[in-house]
Formats: sequence, C-alpha cells, structure tokens
Amino acid sequence: MVKAKKFIYAKAFQGQPKSENFKLEEFELPELKDDEVLCEAIFLSVDPYMRPYMSRFPVGSTMIGGQIAKVTNSKHSKFPTGSMIYGDFGWQTHTIFNPENLSETFINEPIVLPNFGNLPYSYALGCLGMPGNTAFFGFLEICQPKKGETVVITGAAGAVGCLVGQIAKIKGCIVVGFAGTDEKCKWLTNECQFDHAFNYKTCDITKSLKEAAPNGIDCYFDNVGGEISSTILRQMNLFGRVSVCGSISVYNENMEDLPKVTIVQPLLLFKQLKMEGFIVSRWKSRFGEGFASMLNWVKEGKIKYRETVTEGFENMPNAFMEMLNGKNIGKAIVKI
Ligand SMILES: NC(=O)c1ccc[n+]([C@@H]2O[C@H](COP(=O)([O-])OP(=O)(O)OC[C@H]3O[C@@H](n4cnc5c(N)ncnc54)[C@H](OP(=O)(O)O)[C@@H]3O)[C@@H](O)[C@H]2O)c1
Repeated sequence: MVKAKKFIYAKAFQGQPKSENFKLEEFELPELKDDEVLCEAIFLSVDPYMRPYMSRFPVGSTMIGGQIAKVTNSKHSKFPTGSMIYGDFGWQTHTIFNPENLSETFINEPIVLPNFGNLPYSYALGCLGMPGNTAFFGFLEICQPKKGETVVITGAAGAVGCLVGQIAKIKGCIVVGFAGTDEKCKWLTNECQFDHAFNYKTCDITKSLKEAAPNGIDCYFDNVGGEISSTILRQMNLFGRVSVCGSISVYNENMEDLPKVTIVQPLLLFKQLKMEGFIVSRWKSRFGEGFASMLNWVKEGKIKYRETVTEGFENMPNAFMEMLNGKNIGKAIVKI
C-alpha cells in the first residue's frame, strides 16, 4: 500500500492566500487495477492561475496544478514503469490514473516526456511546457511582431515574461521590460538581452517609457493589468497590438468590485489598437510546434531560463504565496 500526501483547498481564498487556505492530508492509494498507472511527483508547479481558478472548485478539493512525475508501477503500455511524465495531478505526491478514463480536473492528458538530454525535466513546467507555449503563441500570434518594432512586457522576469522578451529579441525587436526588483531588472538586461528593464515599484513609468521607447510602443504583452497597463497603452503607436495574457495585479481582489483604472477606450480608438485576451489552450493542437521551437532556442543558447526552486512538498503553499508576492525569478517550482 502506497502512502501519499496531498494539499486540500481548505478555506476559500479571500485577498492574499494564507497558510490557513491549505491543509496537508495523508491518504493511502488502492491496489493498481488493469490499465492504471502509479506515479510519484518529482517537480510540482506553482502558477498564478491557481489563485483565480480555485474559486471554480468546492472547498475540500485537491489543489489543482501540473507536475513532472516518474511512473513507479504501470498496467498501461503507453506509460511504462520508469518513464517521466507530465500530468495535471494537482498538489499530491503520488497519483493513480487511468489514461482511458481521466477525471474532469485534467486540463491536458498526461504525456510521456521525450529525453531532455542535458536539460532538467522541470523545464517541462516552464520554458518547455505551458508557460513556454503561452509566450510563444500568445506573443507571436497576437502581437505579430516585426523586426525593429518596440515591445513592452510587464511581469517581465517571470516564467512567461522572460521568454516573451527573448523571443522578441530573436525576432529583431527592441525590448523593454517591467519587473518588481532591481535584481530582476539586472538579470533581464545582463542575461536575457532585454534592451531596457525598469523596476515598476520605484520608477516613473511614463518617463521610463519615454526614454526607452522614444518612437512609441508597437506591441504590449500584458501579464499584470491595472493602472500600469493603461499607462503603457497611452504610449502605443498607431495600429499597435496588445496581447492580454494575465492580470495578476487583481487576482487577490474581489472580482465583483475591482479597482478603477484610467479609461482606455479613447486610446484604442484613436490609435486603432488591437487588444486581445487569450488562454493558451487555444493552441493545444500546435503545442508540439511551440515545444520544438523553444527547445531549439534553449539548446542554441538564444533563450536563457531560470528557476526559483523550493525544496519539499510541505512547502507548496509557501512557494505559491511567495510566487504571488514576486519572490521568484523565472519559473517557480517545487522539488520533492
Ligand atoms: N493566458 C494564459 O493562457 C496564461 C498562461 C500562463 C500564465 N498566464 C498569466 O501570465 C502572468 C505571468 O504568469 P507566470 O506563470 O509567468 O508567473 P510569474 O511571472 O513567474 O510569477 C508571478 C509574478 O507576478 C508579479 N506580480 C505579482 N503581483 C503583481 C502586481 N500586483 N503587479 C505586477 N506584477 C505582479 C511578480 O513579479 P514582480 O516582482 O515583477 O512583481 C511575480 O513574480 C500571470 O498573470 C498569469 O496568470 C496566462
């Protein structure tokens, strides 16, 4: 009998997540039946979407999320024992699943990962996984960047943002990032080849943009929403494109009573901007294409990737809360 641990959504989030919102439980897994697979988590992901998405689940549910796991026992030929897999198994250490009969909490079907060579398997939670595809498709498909154009990114030093900036550099753009610490900004300009990076907590945003983008902004990849986005929109060029990827600045707010920000419709109208929100699953059928491009760029050294790793399953809530508070540089993950 395998003993497993999981984190339960113990109390509905209100404002910033706190320790009391999570409860660690131990449980025993049953014997493996025909077609079933048993796997053990190696790396787990903590992502911003977990904050707004958990409200769709009743209190008492297992916290949702993706993980990289190793198959330890298998009665299904597509998931051999010893293989490394990605699965939406939630915050739990061990999982039994039947690939022919998945529950509705699976956003993606579990997949066996290819050999990553020298790269860590944890990259399948970052640049070679969902955040990689988010940056690849959400930026290239919606912003349609052209060589020489100016691209601005908020949440620039996170899992998605740092990739968008580096893809924009590969496409020959001028790249300006906003992030929450000076250390993050240094990493963006020194390692990730951003042309400019500003600490949005301490800089004058309008002035910084005037200096860094004197000819205006052509593409804006918006990870955060709120007033900073209205300020950026004010400096967009005619026919600029805005990809709305996230709005983390309000994930802890009451969605029925959101903070007021500067009205943007006149800017969209007179500058004839295109602004489009997306959910990455829109390009699910093309994830292989995104994965292959990201893998090549990482192997060629054209894309640098960084992870902030928290050790120990018990620390999942801390890792999640710290990520929401900006403690991560690059992708936040938990290593078992
Ligand atoms: N549309 C999609 O399909 C899709 C897919 C993946 C991710 N997303 C979205 O993309 C965004 C980035 O996700 P990620 O996985 O790459 O996370 P991440 O950027 O690695 O981590 C979250 C970061 O958000 C920043 N942040 C927190 N509160 C903020 C605030 N009030 N204002 C500005 N920044 C704040 C923090 O960095 P600072 O130090 O810079 O504040 C923190 O490190 C999120 O909004 C997420 O929901 C969307």
